[in-house]
Amino acid sequence: MSQMNQVQHDIRSAIEGRRTFAIISHPDAGKTTLTEKLLLYSGLIRTAGMVGARKRGKFAASDWMEMEQERGISITASAMQFPYKGKMINVLDTPGHQDFCEDTYRTLTAADSAIMVIDAAKGVEAQTRKLFEVCRLRNIPVLTFINKLDLPGRPPLDLMAEVEDVLGIHASAINWPVGSGAEFLGLVERHTRTFFRYTRTASAGAAKPLVDWIDVGSPDWATRVPTHLREHVEHDLELLEVAGNPFSREAFLDGKVTPVFFGSALTNFGVEVFFDAFVDLAPGPRPRVADTPDGFEISIDPVATPFSAYVFKLQANMNPRHRDSTAFLRVCSGRYERDMIVKHHPSGQEIRLSRPHSLVAQARTTVDVAYPGDILGVINPGIFRIGDTLSLTDGFNYKPLPQFQPEVFARVRPLDTGKRKAFDKGIEQLAREGAIQLLQSLDGLEFVVAAVGRLQFDVLQFRLRQEYRVETKLEVLPYECSAWLEGDIETFNAPSDALIVKDHRDRPVVLFRSAWSKQFARERNPQVRLLEMG
Ligand code: G4P
Repeated sequence: MSQMNQVQHDIRSAIEGRRTFAIISHPDAGKTTLTEKLLLYSGLIRTAGMVGARKRGKFAASDWMEMEQERGISITASAMQFPYKGKMINVLDTPGHQDFCEDTYRTLTAADSAIMVIDAAKGVEAQTRKLFEVCRLRNIPVLTFINKLDLPGRPPLDLMAEVEDVLGIHASAINWPVGSGAEFLGLVERHTRTFFRYTRTASAGAAKPLVDWIDVGSPDWATRVPTHLREHVEHDLELLEVAGNPFSREAFLDGKVTPVFFGSALTNFGVEVFFDAFVDLAPGPRPRVADTPDGFEISIDPVATPFSAYVFKLQANMNPRHRDSTAFLRVCSGRYERDMIVKHHPSGQEIRLSRPHSLVAQARTTVDVAYPGDILGVINPGIFRIGDTLSLTDGFNYKPLPQFQPEVFARVRPLDTGKRKAFDKGIEQLAREGAIQLLQSLDGLEFVVAAVGRLQFDVLQFRLRQEYRVETKLEVLPYECSAWLEGDIETFNAPSDALIVKDHRDRPVVLFRSAWSKQFARERNPQVRLLEMG
């Protein structure tokens, strides 16, 4: 085999084994617990409890951003890589809780698939819905894990219906729970009609549970499952056969159906079967669409195209003693080799990608080779912006990342007016990096910053202080949504509690207190257009 063919062969087999995904969920649905169980089942950690401890700030990692330590949250870890049953897993970190921000959305663009975790007692919640919407727009196939079956929850059929109604996707149950809450005994795998009967271990989820396999309808099924549970499950299974959605991998990859699994991440019931199905069903890296300089769309083949990647996240000051920042790249094609010199498309500069790192669980390691689907953290030489393409060969740019609808707004100014220049420079630079979206009062005298989550404001103030030596006053404004105003601004009859500002291209933007108020303004002003930002 020629050297070239050998490289392509290596890339092809790496791609087949890569699973790069994100977990989308509402806070507290069990994302951290499920991630931890994946590490447990991969053999990377021996007992559960580490990831949770890190989340709660009990885990000391010396080089994390100062603020992160202050708040005990993780905003720097971007991806973890580890092998699971012959596949290479890349789990992307999608910050939730109060650190939900634009990065959460942007990170999703780097995923090839997503796992949606739903709390069985709560159903589809707000953040899940927003994140799912991004997956839909990006054509990212989604697997569903309905969690916490060991607690009293809503009937499984209801939850399936809610996924379909609220998210507008077909849901197809791959397995079905037997009992719930204290009576949760295990799961029936539908296509084999096998009942996985779990027994809790004394270690409360730190180790795998014991499992027996019983055929539905066999004498064991009759003796080992209480009659009322058996009847219930048999009824549901029959109903699913008649009225449920069929599952096909093609429809899943097309984003038309989500396979649904039930379980309990805490007690490990249904966790291993879910992960096994996940690595089987989820796609490896696929071709990505890019634009040519003359405006055509082309598909970039991950094997045939030499190394290319794009920046999906910028992270400042992972080491507070240095001012450098890290850019996280998603490899889209070809093979990365250490010290490779690549072209940074927007600037045309050649850049050596030396000493990139990945996070293997908590430890950072230097990467020598990387394949499509992998995430590289590299030092930002100061010219990287979100969405930038880097590659060995020229001639295409990955699509710019979309802007996402801001949901929080604040007025910000320097405490010391003598620092105005440094402040202006800093805030404009940080907006260009994608840390916040920048708006201005119509007279241009005041800055209004917009973001998806409050954390972005904290990061903004922190970075202005650390990197530009400017203390700021930030006043959160009572607006919840916004729209670009297209048409004659003079004729626009704004609701009395709305505020009109302008964006960096001087386009007018209206800030509203509620979606209702925006809708009202739309109806009252048919002569102008209120366009969604994002
Ligand atoms: P998140 O990352 O999605 O925010 O959720 P996380 O995994 O941290 O889980 C939130 C809480 O729900 C945790 O409890 C966790 O133990 C619990 N949990 C997760 N999965 C299950 C499950 O399958 N069954 C049950 N009963 N509970 C589950 P906590 O009290 O907030 O923390 P902890 O101190 O118990 O860990």
